[in-house]
Amino acid sequence: MKQGFSSVRAAARLSVAPMMDWTDRHCRYLHRLMSRNVLLYTEMVTAPALVRGGALHLLEYSPQEHPVALQLGGSDPEELAQAAVLGAKAGYDEINLNCGCPSDRVQSGTFGAILMKDPGRVAECVAEMKRAVRVEVTVKCRIGVDDQDPAEVLPEFLSRVGAAGCQRFTIHARKAWLQGLSPKENRDIPPLDYDLVQRMRGLFGGLHLSVNGGITSLDQAEQFLEAGLDGVMVGRAAYHDPTAILAQADRRIYGEGTDSDPVEVARQMLPYIATHLEAGGKLAQVTRHMLGLFAGRPGARHWRRILSEGAHKPGAGPELVEQALDPVMAAA
Ligand SMILES: Cc1cc2nc3c(=O)[nH]c(=O)nc-3n(C[C@H](O)[C@H](O)[C@H](O)COP(=O)(O)O)c2cc1C
Repeated sequence: MKQGFSSVRAAARLSVAPMMDWTDRHCRYLHRLMSRNVLLYTEMVTAPALVRGGALHLLEYSPQEHPVALQLGGSDPEELAQAAVLGAKAGYDEINLNCGCPSDRVQSGTFGAILMKDPGRVAECVAEMKRAVRVEVTVKCRIGVDDQDPAEVLPEFLSRVGAAGCQRFTIHARKAWLQGLSPKENRDIPPLDYDLVQRMRGLFGGLHLSVNGGITSLDQAEQFLEAGLDGVMVGRAAYHDPTAILAQADRRIYGEGTDSDPVEVARQMLPYIATHLEAGGKLAQVTRHMLGLFAGRPGARHWRRILSEGAHKPGAGPELVEQALDPVMAAA
């Protein structure tokens, strides 16, 4: 069910980051089975693709995914507003603007992390998007880019974009270097500065601030929340080891519900897979997101091998998942 403003905020205590090619609808469906509460983000969808390209299929998702946020890429206020309307009509619970992605393709379109250099434009984009939709408009940003001084630009950015009406930010606690580093290197090499994000918490009492970058356990997420941050966004760790991040999230982060069991989750994926195959989809499109389900647990290697070797074969179906579960069960 589509969520109201306050329940999406509550969900934002923990979120799974937007990740291109990773957090597609199949991945989000899996993550939702693991936690009823966690806030899920789509991969970035560019405003030009939706508005000029008419690529509305990029907005498709399953109703079970709520609460789910659509991340948009763009820098033209009018076009972003139109894209936000399409997202709101599709029923997304939040529209998020990407101001953190450093890839070349994204730079050439003047959006993503380069927008850290132009808070005035981001403010215009947010104001225009907010005028156009009722769902919350949020921003995901870095602490700065290139030779910017994060201690100067981050508060300036939050202040200007906050004044335009964005009340919720996710801050990837490292700079992006727009020249010389690949997108992957930009997620690892620039040093993390959690203290700066924490200081923003003190400076901007009215804003909802989530921290992102390098968080690899639920313990660490809890520490940030205890230290006063409003939310924690986890990317790679949630993808590679969803059980570690999501299976206990409802109880530990939201104080409700029971832990999910990855074996049960794998079984609950079977009807979803069957429907996907009936609609002409391929098994591997779903199972590729399930490879990490038993990461670090007995039987994990066999599980991964059976799925990754078998899922591409013609005629492969849900029974491959059951077959891959055998060694996990046997090792338990
Ligand atoms: C494969 C991949 C794709 C990504 N795509 C996006 C994206 O579309 N939009 C975005 O804002 N960030 C994107 N990111 C960055 C993540 O959202 C996140 O900020 C980053 O991975 C740091 O968090 P982590 O250390 O928890 O992974 C991507 C990251 C990865 C690994």
